[in-house]
Amino acid sequence: MRIPGIRDYVIEKLQCILNPRSIAVIGASRDPNKIGHQIVKNLIESGYKGRIYPVNPKANEILGLKCYASVKDIPDMVDLVVISVPAPIVRKVVQECAEKGVNGIAIITAGFSEVGNKKEEDEIVEIARKHKIPILGPNIVGILNSTYKMNASFAPKLPFSGKIALISQSGALIIGLIGWTWLYRVGLSKVISIGNKADIDFSELIVYLTEKDPDTNTIAIYMEGTDAGPELVEACRRAAGKKPIVILKAGFSKRGELATMSHTGSMAGSARIYKAAFLQSYVIQAEDLFDLYDKALALSLQPPAMSDRILVITNGGGAGVLATDAAEKYGIPLSDTPPDLAERLKKYMPPFGSTKNPVDLTGQANEDWYYGAIVEAVKHPDVGGIVVIYCHTAITDPMKIGVRISEATKIARDYKKPIVVCFIGGREVEGTSNWLKEQGIPTYPTPARAIKAMAALREYGRIIERIKKRQQ
Ligand code: ACO
Repeated sequence: MRIPGIRDYVIEKLQCILNPRSIAVIGASRDPNKIGHQIVKNLIESGYKGRIYPVNPKANEILGLKCYASVKDIPDMVDLVVISVPAPIVRKVVQECAEKGVNGIAIITAGFSEVGNKKEEDEIVEIARKHKIPILGPNIVGILNSTYKMNASFAPKLPFSGKIALISQSGALIIGLIGWTWLYRVGLSKVISIGNKADIDFSELIVYLTEKDPDTNTIAIYMEGTDAGPELVEACRRAAGKKPIVILKAGFSKRGELATMSHTGSMAGSARIYKAAFLQSYVIQAEDLFDLYDKALALSLQPPAMSDRILVITNGGGAGVLATDAAEKYGIPLSDTPPDLAERLKKYMPPFGSTKNPVDLTGQANEDWYYGAIVEAVKHPDVGGIVVIYCHTAITDPMKIGVRISEATKIARDYKKPIVVCFIGGREVEGTSNWLKEQGIPTYPTPARAIKAMAALREYGRIIERIKKRQQ
């Protein structure tokens, strides 16, 4: 049901939904193969420190926890209720939650507007809205909070911990993308599945995450559609300049639009309208899943680029050419290295190296040359950000190079200049790439992906400039 504007009580109660002190799981099955059982198990195994109350009229105990016949029997306040009973029972259960006075509800159950059962979905939302209880879902995988160590979902595990909050209309994608966070070291603070978003919409989550959540510094969204466009624009504009928002909007093709309707009951809408709205509301757009994570990773780990002058430092000419092409394609075309900086960079390369942009330290570049060249660039007033590329060679140790890049990045932080890294190679560079990300340095396997990430940092820098101008 369309939201009646961004609601204050929802923003307030999202604290109880996303960081609950107590959770009741309704439909906590005795059967280990059922979703309700798995959610209780995940809560216990993720290390959740709050109180857990399984609810099932047919059970006395689930996984060693006392079981209640109804949420109303729980002798304690309940912040979050996770519902995992079949669709025909959900209305009754929500009514009981209203009588109990819980603070928020997440409905895992499918079988509502996405299959044409809008009437029942609307009735459930009406009950909840009457009692000011926000609902997440239905048709969701649940909520994960890596800071609180809370897996209130049937996703197999918590994500790699970090500062990105991921909101997704697709639950299955969430499960897959959590796997990626461990593979690629993309740190998430929260994962919020919103499915049919019958009640809580993107906009209210964006406002909460921007204004009330210190664990999140970047918001990444997989979106199929929204019927609350003006609220989305308002929320993104409220967030502008405070926390970056990256959105991957799906369902722009003819059949994609139909698939969207049967997946989450949303209207995908025209690409032109969404793109114009995103532009107007300072949203950074992503092209695909890699792009969503690549941009969010850079934005969560590095400061924005406050000038167009990006310098590329590489040990491989070909990688430098690819970076140059990508820089032009993604809106940060390279310009010549300032002459005084070029002169200083000569110390860190053989006579046959190149001080032009891209700066080619050559294949014999060692860790100290990388360090020296990066620090010189960082200190130069006409450099706004640096993309460092390393192609693996038999005469270099990627970890030694990584350590020196990390040391140079600490200096870059003092100058508020972003550094993005590209490590090209096989298994030999994988460990260092992941280690660099753990040190807060976004690292990618291709020059184009690294450049696109830097372009996102520049885009966010331009957004900050636009906001400042607007405020003058
Ligand atoms: N209160 C509490 N528990 C109750 C109540 C009640 N009023 N009534 C029944 N129960 C119990 C049942 O007895 C059962 O426990 P038991 O197994 O110990 O007997 C438990 O609740 C679950 O009920 P079931 O009828 O067994 O339902 P089941 O677990 O098979 O299915 C579910 C429920 C998972 C919600 C299902 O209806 C559903 O919607 N599945 C799809 C979920 C989904 O995919 N969501 C979207 C995720 S996103 C993605 O794409 C991955």
